[in-house]
Amino acid sequence: MSIIVAGLGQCSLDYLTFVDQFPVEDTKCEVSPWVIEGGGPVATALVALSRLGVKTRFMGVTGDDEAGKIIKNGLAAEGVDISHMLTEKCGFSQTACIIINKKTAGRTIFWSRSLDDKCTVTESFLKGAKILHLDGLMEDASINAAKTANALNIPVMLDAGSVRSKTHELIPLCDYVVCSEKFSETYSCSHEETLIRLTGAGVKFACVTLGGNGSLTMMPDGRIFYHPAYDIEAVDTTGAGDVFHGGCIYGILNNWTHEEIIRFATALAAMKCLKMGGRAAIPRAAEEVGKFMYRQGFRSTAVSQKRQP
Ligand SMILES: Nc1ncnc2c1ncn2[C@@H]1O[C@H](COP(=O)(O)OP(=O)(O)OP(=O)(O)O)[C@@H](O)[C@H]1O
Ligand SMILES: [Mg+2]
Repeated sequence: MSIIVAGLGQCSLDYLTFVDQFPVEDTKCEVSPWVIEGGGPVATALVALSRLGVKTRFMGVTGDDEAGKIIKNGLAAEGVDISHMLTEKCGFSQTACIIINKKTAGRTIFWSRSLDDKCTVTESFLKGAKILHLDGLMEDASINAAKTANALNIPVMLDAGSVRSKTHELIPLCDYVVCSEKFSETYSCSHEETLIRLTGAGVKFACVTLGGNGSLTMMPDGRIFYHPAYDIEAVDTTGAGDVFHGGCIYGILNNWTHEEIIRFATALAAMKCLKMGGRAAIPRAAEEVGKFMYRQGFRSTAVSQKRQP
């Protein structure tokens, strides 16, 4: 397949475990066996796309430690092109400790970022790319990457998790922005206002995700489209947002309508929540998503009719 999604962002090694309830400070708490898996917003979105049959290319940094090897091997095993990744000598790869509450499936993430922002997106990294996906955490690198993509007429998707010091510089360079509830609450006084501000800055596709409460999307005619989350027995919500972005990008590549894109992304993210970890439950074919939607009662989508690019 010739379509390429290029992504620049964080990649980490996640250590995940369940607790029955959150412990109080200064106590000991026995947990379930740890699950170790690669993570990071852009890296996991690319894994989702790769499993759906889209060619992907990732740029990010790891250290030259054991964690870095596991992160890179995990991406390569998913078919993500990692040839542009950087390895920092004597550096510690980003790691995250993720504690999942068994009762709510909510995840609490403790993470560290020890590596410098040294990534430079070049024309060769973007060669053949139909979209560039960013998480904006490496602020200067993201802005430079978005400018390079703009100059090459490659649209940019931003996974906006938090408002950072250069967010206001980055947003006008982006065509698609899917932001978290936390981002929206800092960015403006209401989710509606966030969508209005984003589209006012030139963003063509703006969406706020609300965890288990679904999402709000600005439609081309100025209406705001609410889509509930699927009513599932969620096991772990780690990476739901990352996978939701993968689903949105997949729909954009297929030229689906805003509504079709959101229905697909919502289903893909819900499927992810059915197992522990950010990646374990991501389906390996778009048809699986169509079947899930059908079982859940959404029969009028284009997913089963339109094939992947
Ligand atoms: N408990 C859940 N049940 C079903 N779907 C969920 C659940 N939690 C999240 N989702 C789906 O995933 C989407 C994205 O989730 P969320 O808003 O939590 O992303 P986020 O804030 O970016 O978090 P992260 O990136 O850490 O996963 C939601 O809009 C929803 O469609
Ligand atoms: Mg997110």
